[in-house]
Amino acid sequence: MDGRPVDKRLMRTSRRFNLSGPALNFVTIKNIRSDNNVTSNKVNILISGKTVQATEGETIVRALWSAGLGGLVEVGCAGGVCGACTVTVRFSDGRPGGTDLACMRPVEEGMEIFPCPVETQSVPAPQADPTAVKIRAAFPTLDRCTKCGSCTTACPMSIPVMDSVLRMQSGNFEVVAEDFTTCIHCGLCRFVCEDKVKPHSMGMWVRRSLGMSRTESLNEAPQPDFCSEKDAEKEWEWLLADDSEERLCRAKTFRETGRL
Ligand code: SF4
Ligand code: SF4
Ligand code: FES
Repeated sequence: MDGRPVDKRLMRTSRRFNLSGPALNFVTIKNIRSDNNVTSNKVNILISGKTVQATEGETIVRALWSAGLGGLVEVGCAGGVCGACTVTVRFSDGRPGGTDLACMRPVEEGMEIFPCPVETQSVPAPQADPTAVKIRAAFPTLDRCTKCGSCTTACPMSIPVMDSVLRMQSGNFEVVAEDFTTCIHCGLCRFVCEDKVKPHSMGMWVRRSLGMSRTESLNEAPQPDFCSEKDAEKEWEWLLADDSEERLCRAKTFRETGRL
């Protein structure tokens, strides 16, 4: 394993891609998707220093909406996938707070919330066949990383961001692409990076560059006849094998070759 808390990662991934998974995933989703755990108990929270009464267990976003303060935090999807609702939180019982998504975090008594919108930044154009030299040319900040680990701590999707930056430095791009599969581009890893390394922009660049290389090699390969509806059904049937290991193996083959 790579050090990421498994349950959080599974929960996020399952929710994002609507994967039906084992019971563990369901229980974890239920625990973290706070709107399923709303009680009638009232709690007081502080948002930007303003006291708001909220219902225990509802998400920060819902609490703000109910209080008529929705404008304080940006909201896109309200489901943990768009990365718009970035906040930092502090707990009254001394537990370490940190960065989070307001649409996913349940409110608690005494919680302090500070909206922290992260501006978007454009990503340099991807390049086919990425190398360590190419990524350094696109992102001269790559070697500034001081391995402080703040990006990994800040990531609400439990991505091993710092490790992935080190993998980028050595050109280990296939693993980087996997690391950033669940990145929602909230920008918190860039926001907390004192050295302005821009990990998520680099992660996106790597994924796009690898995708572009694959498209180019597929374009060079002889193309199959245009896929009929019947063929597409056959492909789905083949891809959705009952055995999960076999299914992963087939999906990998299909991604790599573009055919069954
Ligand atoms: S926050 Fe910046 S400097 Fe620190 S580990 Fe992450 S990328 Fe490196
Ligand atoms: S942008 Fe950074 S912090 Fe946000 S999900 Fe992606 S890697 Fe994690
Ligand atoms: S509103 Fe989209 S992640 Fe929270």
